[in-house]
Amino acid sequence: MGLNIRGRSFLTLLDFTPEEINYLIDLAVEFKRLKNNGVEHKWLSDKQIVLLFEKTSTRTRCAFEVGARDLGMGVTFLDSGSSQMGKKESLADTAKVLGRMFDGIEYRGFKQSVVEDLAKYSGVPVWNGLTDQFHPTQMLADIMTAREEFGDLRGRKLTFFGDARNNVANSLMVVCAKLGMHFCACGPQELMPEEWLTEKCKAVAAETGAVLEFTDDVAQGAKDCDILYTDIWLSMGEPDELWAKRIKLLLPYQVNQKVMDMAKPTAIFEHCLPSFHDRETTVGEDIYQKFGLEAMEVTDDVFLGKHARQFQEAENRMHTIKAVMYATLK
Ligand code: CP
Ligand code: NVA
Repeated sequence: MGLNIRGRSFLTLLDFTPEEINYLIDLAVEFKRLKNNGVEHKWLSDKQIVLLFEKTSTRTRCAFEVGARDLGMGVTFLDSGSSQMGKKESLADTAKVLGRMFDGIEYRGFKQSVVEDLAKYSGVPVWNGLTDQFHPTQMLADIMTAREEFGDLRGRKLTFFGDARNNVANSLMVVCAKLGMHFCACGPQELMPEEWLTEKCKAVAAETGAVLEFTDDVAQGAKDCDILYTDIWLSMGEPDELWAKRIKLLLPYQVNQKVMDMAKPTAIFEHCLPSFHDRETTVGEDIYQKFGLEAMEVTDDVFLGKHARQFQEAENRMHTIKAVMYATLK
């Protein structure tokens, strides 16, 4: 420990060193221990934070709200329907106002440039709760969960199956590169990560000893894999008209028991959630009616099976987000 990231924003893990990332996870482990032992930790009771959501959320919003309250902070929630931001007031003006009232700002929305501008104009720490490009708080929970399973993760292989250029896959490539892991993007060629990001991650990997692999072959992706990861095939903000095309492209990359059986016997399954693993959602039922699919990116046998860790991962969102808020505001 002994690192100091007070006053910093948390916009992408590209901005953080491996030591800083591990420091945040160590802090989250400590917060989990305190919470599980019922030890009060209202260490930021003089602080106020605001949460800006331009997209929907269950985990991220709740993790910020519960984490903030556990730390003794006041929390204000604004969604795009209930604030002036964007419609009657520019982003820069909004950021300047919020920066005078709050000690920290969370933002979930579309462009990465918005979260960067909020940090630039507000003068307080800004936390990226998901943009079209990155989902960095998710990564801390994913790595923490894998660490709880395996301990040291250097050299461990994490394969992302599916839409390998979405926000979650991009962020996994970054965090695996930073932590000296083996990252494999397994999906169709047209959904591979963009070159500018791949180049940045290759440069990081050259320093850390990480391995980056890109394949359209499922058996290759699953081979020697420790962590099988997938995400929904159509991200928030993408048009529903894309479903047919995505299903055609990504069905071969569904994580099912056959794929799990190709990985190491000790492998775990992770998913950022929400997930379409059955017909118990309106979207899941609609897709079944239109395309006849019982499940999409992951089948129920894997989702409910012994390798699945997605709910532990969801809980860890709260401990890790608490660590980010505490380390940047303390
Ligand atoms: N994983 C995740 O960010 O979930 P929410 O969309 O529910 O916040
Ligand atoms: N890729 C997904 C992640 C949700 C947590 C999306 O952006 O909708």
